[in-house]
This record gives sequence, structure tokens and C-alpha cells, in this order.
Amino acid sequence: MSSIEVFLPFLLAIWDVLRLQRSLDLHQEEKPDSSVYQSVQATLRTYMLKPRTRYLLPIFMVSYGCYLTQGLWISSNSTFICPIALDLPRDVPLMQIGALVLEFCLAVIAYETSPKSDGRGLSGRRCVIATYGALDMSIYLTGLTTTIPALEFIWSHKNPFPPTPASATKVAFLLVWSGRWTYRRIQQALGEKDPIRGSRQFLVLVLLCTALFPAWRKQSYIHFHPIDMLMYDASIHHNKYLEVVGNTNSLTETVSRYKQRYHRNPPPGFDVWFDYAKNRSVLIVDEFDQIYEDLLPFQAIPPSVLRRLTWEMVSNPWNEISGITIRNGEAKVQENVLPTHRWMLEGVAVLINSFARYLPDMDLAFNLNDESRVAVPHEQAQGLRTLALAKDQNGSGPFSTNRSAGWLPIPEHEYHETVFRESSWRNSFDMYGSVSCPPTSLARRSPRIASRSHLCRDCLAPHSLGQFLANWTDAADVCHQPDMAHLHGFYLSPAAFKASHNLMPVFSQSKPHGYNDILYPSAWNYMDKVVYNPTPPSGTPGNEDYNPGHPDPPFSQKNNTLFWRGATSEGVSSESNVWRGMTRQRLVHMANNLTSHPHDRVTILLPDLADHSKYKYQTLPGPTVKEIGLNTDIAIVDFIARCGGKDCDDQKAEFNLVKPSDFQAHWSYKFLFDLDGAGFSGRFLPFLQSHSLPFKTALFREWYDSRLTAWLHFVPQDVRLHGVWSTLAYFAGLNGTMWGRDIRWQAHEKEGEMIAEHGREWASKVLRKEDMECYFFRLLLEWGRLTDDARDELGFVV
Ligand SMILES: *[C@@H]1O[C@H](CO)[C@@H](O)[C@H](O)[C@H]1NC(C)=O
Ligand SMILES: *[C@@H]1O[C@H](CO)[C@@H](O)[C@H](O)[C@H]1NC(C)=O
Ligand SMILES: *[C@@H]1O[C@H](CO)[C@@H](O)[C@H](O)[C@H]1NC(C)=O
Ligand SMILES: *[C@@H]1O[C@H](CO)[C@@H](O)[C@H](O)[C@H]1NC(C)=O
Ligand SMILES: *[C@@H]1O[C@H](CO)[C@@H](O)[C@H](O)[C@H]1NC(C)=O
Ligand SMILES: *[C@@H]1O[C@H](CO)[C@@H](O)[C@H](O)[C@H]1NC(C)=O
Ligand SMILES: *[C@@H]1O[C@H](CO)[C@@H](O)[C@H](O)[C@H]1NC(C)=O
Ligand SMILES: *[C@@H]1O[C@H](CO)[C@@H](O)[C@H](O)[C@H]1NC(C)=O
Repeated sequence: MSSIEVFLPFLLAIWDVLRLQRSLDLHQEEKPDSSVYQSVQATLRTYMLKPRTRYLLPIFMVSYGCYLTQGLWISSNSTFICPIALDLPRDVPLMQIGALVLEFCLAVIAYETSPKSDGRGLSGRRCVIATYGALDMSIYLTGLTTTIPALEFIWSHKNPFPPTPASATKVAFLLVWSGRWTYRRIQQALGEKDPIRGSRQFLVLVLLCTALFPAWRKQSYIHFHPIDMLMYDASIHHNKYLEVVGNTNSLTETVSRYKQRYHRNPPPGFDVWFDYAKNRSVLIVDEFDQIYEDLLPFQAIPPSVLRRLTWEMVSNPWNEISGITIRNGEAKVQENVLPTHRWMLEGVAVLINSFARYLPDMDLAFNLNDESRVAVPHEQAQGLRTLALAKDQNGSGPFSTNRSAGWLPIPEHEYHETVFRESSWRNSFDMYGSVSCPPTSLARRSPRIASRSHLCRDCLAPHSLGQFLANWTDAADVCHQPDMAHLHGFYLSPAAFKASHNLMPVFSQSKPHGYNDILYPSAWNYMDKVVYNPTPPSGTPGNEDYNPGHPDPPFSQKNNTLFWRGATSEGVSSESNVWRGMTRQRLVHMANNLTSHPHDRVTILLPDLADHSKYKYQTLPGPTVKEIGLNTDIAIVDFIARCGGKDCDDQKAEFNLVKPSDFQAHWSYKFLFDLDGAGFSGRFLPFLQSHSLPFKTALFREWYDSRLTAWLHFVPQDVRLHGVWSTLAYFAGLNGTMWGRDIRWQAHEKEGEMIAEHGREWASKVLRKEDMECYFFRLLLEWGRLTDDARDELGFVV
């Protein structure tokens, strides 16, 4: 029920007053010796019962109570940008008022025109009774449709975030119940019958009180900080992970673990791969679930068809997909690659050539865009999976020797067929983003979330602990997060998006949950497009030759500031206002442009001023975050990219553009934010390698996602960004004033440094170039088996 519809009963009551109610002529014998109680009763009778407006107050109480209940859902605002400067259209409230009036008219008309059984049209007494019917109905319906979801909500959201205003629970229920009770008493006094008898009313009251109990008990203080708990969980999770990844020197053991995990024999050449991996001191040799999951559905497609699909994709330049050919142990970029993307494929070829001599002949189709390409609808994907799982691959033969004949050369004349559809510049969530979700999931079931300005709690609850992201893997799952449609540039309006619902074997650098692209380690990092390369100061301080350089000091000596620089490249905003939902823009807005407007208030978990061992979610005016000492340096560089028309001007007015800075300047800050662009963020690996602490939010996931543990190697942030301030407060500490009082909170320096150093150390073990080579090598052995005509007879046995 939308916000103001709950006033429908009240409107009906007014109409009822005007049309039907009459003041009563109460014959009361004045008794001079009446007690106080009796005189109160008499006064009540005179003022409540007698006038024709007798029902207005109680019904108003019910409506207003229901209205307050809605505070439960909207008690936390989203970070969706509502720039005050830009004069937001106010059509939403107007539409609601329109809907209310319409409903009211319908209710009245429906009643007034309904044929009466005696055929005499409206006649006084019948009319009054029927109206009571309509009023009663609307009160019951309004009450039920708001209180039942409210109670369910209270029962299912017992944690302290988001804080629920007392007005939304206690006051609201008191109003609804006492309004309803008064209404009933007046009816009784007038001798009307009530469909619900008195004894049942009592029962309802008891039920209500029981149901409300958690709301009363809900504590506003918490006695542990969620981050402490999440860090503890993370180390347990990582230790469990270490047990399964298998750091062994025995090929036999690795093969048997492979069979256990994937229920088939390893591909031919596995022994060479293992040797290769061990030569490069690779730690992870068992866990390659990403490869398994990515390739599984293709097992349902015959090898010759896979080869044909690869050829089709690379033969039509419109697809923006280019090929790499591996023949006789050498990888070459195919001739027809777009010049702008040549460097990328050449990088991939360099990466492949580090192990290509061990590979059989094959062709590969690479996605040249950052955006992913293939989203197979749920039902179809399930079918493919089932089919694939039914095949068994327990063979032991080597790769066929006649493989090169199976791959067609690029045609002389351009090939024009394609399964991809141009889907750029429009919302892609329903069409591609959520198609992989089960039909019963929130993302496919619910109508689009009505309000972008409020936080969707059902969307974040499954992966959150209070305000903090608790499970990085679950947070990638869009199936419970329909609000994502308005929170990321890739869904809102991707810049270069040619997508397909058909399963196509295309290799991409990153993908959001639900896409079927095959992930491979990006050449961006392999070819050092961005690199962690701090330089020490040189020369003598004070002298002319002094160069401060870009050192990477120990964590404790860094600037206590959250830092980000970047471009508005997440998606295209052209006359559509969609930039207001994009993650990058929202981050910049919340760091620089919070005003004291109510929508800009932030909810932040702070220690109690007196007792620092307990915490409470406080809702503060936007500018206060700076006053309590949270520092950010977050800005868009140079110009507004990927915008059109009015959206360019709006963003220019909203954002302060800065000059680009040296990438190596990052290391002087303690906290580095990492966000997706049009696809994955190439900076994350350098961030991890540094002594700084990366905060990361991402829709796009890369090949190494399962290797990292959130809260142990980096600090995860929800795409909604609603926990950024609380997280920063925890790690950076507070030193400032709030409500005119000094507020000090020690920074969790030790914890911050621990995550920064753990991430750095782990990245130097499992995210090296050698690890990229090994991942890719293994991926291509599996791809080689998939595309071999003798697929089922292939395999490696010790
Ligand atoms: C293939 O091997 C796996 C594990 O090694 C086993 O679970 C499966 O039953 C085997 N399939 C056949 C058909 O032998
Ligand atoms: C591993 O190293 C050994 C010794 O250096 C070498 O003989 C072997 O060829 C290497 N294996 C691979 C797959 O590179
Ligand atoms: C390779 O040879 C096998 C057996 O002769 C044959 O079945 C298969 O189709 C051939 N593959 C290709 C790609 O020509
Ligand atoms: C996240 O949730 C999944 C189940 O949904 C679980 O398997 C995994 O261990 C959880 N991850 C962490 C870090 O707790
Ligand atoms: C920390 O960084 C901020 C923002 O970049 C800058 O204004 C400030 O001067 C720096 N503080 C120190 C101590 O360098
Ligand atoms: C959310 O924003 C609205 C105005 O847009 C404001 O009235 C309301 O108080 C805000 N809620 C919170 C919890 O700050
Ligand atoms: C947003 O903040 C930036 C940096 O403080 C400022 O330059 C810009 O004018 C602000 N925009 C608005 C609309 O206030
Ligand atoms: C807090 O800020 C004040 C002035 O801004 C400064 O003098 C003081 O050293 C700071 N305290 C801490 C613990 O950082």
C-alpha cells in the first residue's frame, strides 16, 4: 500500500459526514447529583457522540497510525542522488494524491450507483447502513494491509539496523488500535452491530501485543562491533579455504582431489600443467571451481558446434569479438581484430604464449568490450546443466592429432549473421541481468522497487550484518536484489553492450553474477597497464633537486583519508538522469555534496558518547560526517565522460572536477576506494599489493574472486554504499564535534593494518602473474578437451 492511500477511510468518513450523518438528539436527563465519572461520560456523549463528525477523530487516528507504520520501510534513505540544486520533479507525491482521489471517487461511485434491492435507489436508512459497511470495510482493509506486513516486518527484522523510529511501531500501533476501539464504542453507543464481536476484539488485542513484543524488546544498542565479528568469521573462512586449495607436491594426490571435486578425470596434459605450476611455486592447485562452473554448460554442446560458434563470433566484426589462434604451440592474434583493441589481444597472446607450447591446436573468441555478453535464461541454463552433468568424462586418451582441421579460417568476405543484439544505452536488468534467476526469486518476481530514494532492506538483508556487508559471495547474487537495476551503470545504461541469450563460448575479463561468459585473467594486469610501483624520495629535502617521489609508507604513517579518483565511465547518461543511480557518481556525491536536507541524512554506527563499549546507529545530518572528523578525498577527474545533453550540465553542476594525479600518489592514503567502471576495476590488484587498505564494491567479478576473503584481504562495501561512513569511522576513528559535544573514538589502526598486510601478503602468493598463467593454462586444457571430437575418451590418468 503506497504512502497516503491509508487516508482513504478518512476521506470516506468526511464524505459520510457531509452526505449521511446527522447529529443526534440525545435525550439526557440532567442529574444534578451525578458523579465525576458520569459527568465525564456525559461530556463525552455531548462532544463525541452527538455531532455528525463523531467518526472523524477515531478514523483519523487509524489512518494516521497506518501512515506512521510505513516509517518501518522507509527508515533509511538510499544514496540515490537527489541533487537539491537540480529541482527534482515532484511528480511522485502528486501521483499519489491523484491515486488517492481516484480511489475515493471509485469507492463513492461504486456505492452510489450500485442497484438497490428494493429498486428505489438511495433511501435514507439503507444508505446509512451500507455506508457504515463501506467505512468498516475500508478501515479493516487499511488496518490489515498495513499492520500485517508491519508485524511480519518487525518479526523478521529484529536487528538494530536500520533503526526503526518509535513512531513507526509503538505510537502507530497505539493510534490504530485506540482509534479502532473508539470507533467501535461509538458504534455500540449508537446500537450498531459489529462484525467482530467484543470477545474477539480482546483476542485481537492480545495477539497484537504479542506480535509487537519484539519491537519493544528491540535494542537500540549493540554490544559488539559487527566489523570485529566479520573479521573473525573471515579468518575462519580463510583457514577452511586453505584446507581445500591443496598445497601439495604430489601429482597423484592432486589428480585424486580433482576427481573428487569435479567427478571426472583431469584433461590430458594435466601432468605438464602440474609441473608448470610447481615450477612457478603456485600455491593453489585444487580449487578451480570458477573454471568448472564457467565451462560446465558447454559440455551439453557438441565439440563441432562449439568450434562453429567460435568461428561465427569472430568472423563478424560487428560483434566486437576477436580471435586468437593456437597452432603448433604458438598463439597468434587473428588478422581481423579491431585496431583499437589490438594491444589487448596481443597482451592475451603474450600471456598464452608463456605456456602455449603445451597446448593442442585451438581457436578462442575474446570479448573486446568491458561489458559481459552472454546471459542464458534460467530454465534453459538448468536444462544445459542437467544435460552436461549426465555426460561423463572418465576417458584416458590424449588430444586428437587432427584438431587443426576442425577450426575454420576467417572468411574472405565478412560474415553477417549474429546472435548478439545491440542493447546499449538502456536498462539491461530485466532483459539480461535477472534472466538467470529462478522465476520465484525477488529479482524476477517483484514489480520494480517503487522507491529509489529508500534503502531496500529485503534486498540487502540476505548478505548483510546490520549495515555491513557480511558475505561477499552472496552479495554478488542479484537474484535477491531487484534494486540493483537502478544502482549500477552496467544495468542502468551500459555503454557498449551487445548481448545474447544463447550460450556462446566467449572469453571475458569479468562478469556479474548470472552471466555465462568464460572468465580469463585480464591482460590489463598482466601487461602492467596499471602497476604498483612506489618510488622513494630522492635528493636532499630543501634542495632544488629534491623529489618527494611516491613512497608507500607503513600504514600508520599514511594520510587518514579515504581516497578515490576516476571517470564517470560506468555507463552512459544521456537525457535520462540515470547518472544519479550510478555507483561512482553516488560515491562522489556522498563524499562531497551532502547537505542538511533530510534526504541527505546518514545513518552511522557510533560508539555511545559515554560508554565506548556499546554502539548505536545514529541518524545525523549530512554535513556532520565531516564535523566528526571523517576525511575523504574523492573526485572525478578532468571531465564528465559518457554523458549527453542536459545530463552533462547537471553533472558538471553537481561535481567538482579535478586534475589527474599520478597513480602512484595513491599510496600516501590509508584507505583506497575501488569501484567498477564499465567492467571490472583494473586497479584492485595494485591496491591489494600496497600497504594501503582497499575498500571494494563490485558487481563484476574476476577469475580470482574465490581466492580472496572479504574482511581479511580487503574491506567489502555494498553497492548501495550505505555502510561507507560507518566503516570509515571504525577504521579511521573520530575526532570532532557532534551535537555540540566533542566526540573522540580511537581508530582501529591495528585492524586496518592487519587487513592491508594480509591482502598484500596473500596477493603476493596467489595473484601473481604466474598464477594468472596457471589459471589460463588450466582453463585452456579444459577448453581443449571440450572442443575435441573425441571429448569423451580424453583424460589424464596417473
Ligand atoms: C567417473 O568418475 C567419477 C569419479 O572419478 C565417478 O563418480 C563416476 O561415477 C564415473 N563415471 C563413470 C561412468 O564411470
Ligand atoms: C619445470 O622445471 C624443470 C626443471 O627446471 C624442467 O625440466 C621442466 O621442463 C619444467 N616444466 C615445465 C612444465 O615447465
Ligand atoms: C579427426 O579424426 C577423427 C577420427 O578419424 C574423426 O572422427 C574426427 O571427425 C576428425 N576431426 C576433425 C576435426 O576432422
Ligand atoms: C557466504 O555464504 C555461502 C552460502 O551462501 C557460504 O557457503 C560461504 O561460506 C559464506 N562466506 C563467508 C565468507 O562466510
Ligand atoms: C591528507 O589528504 C588530504 C586530502 O588529499 C589533504 O588535504 C591533507 O593535507 C593531507 N594531510 C596530510 C597530513 O598530508
Ligand atoms: C529520508 O528522506 C526524507 C526526505 O526525502 C526525510 O523526510 C526522511 O526523514 C529521511 N529519513 C531518514 C531516516 O533520514
Ligand atoms: C559538490 O561538492 C564539490 C566539492 O566540494 C563542489 O565543488 C560542488 O560545487 C558541489 N556541488 C553542489 C551542487 O553543491
Ligand atoms: C583531534 O583534533 C584536534 C584539532 O583538530 C587535534 O589537535 C588533536 O590532536 C586530534 N586528536 C587526535 C587523537 O587525533
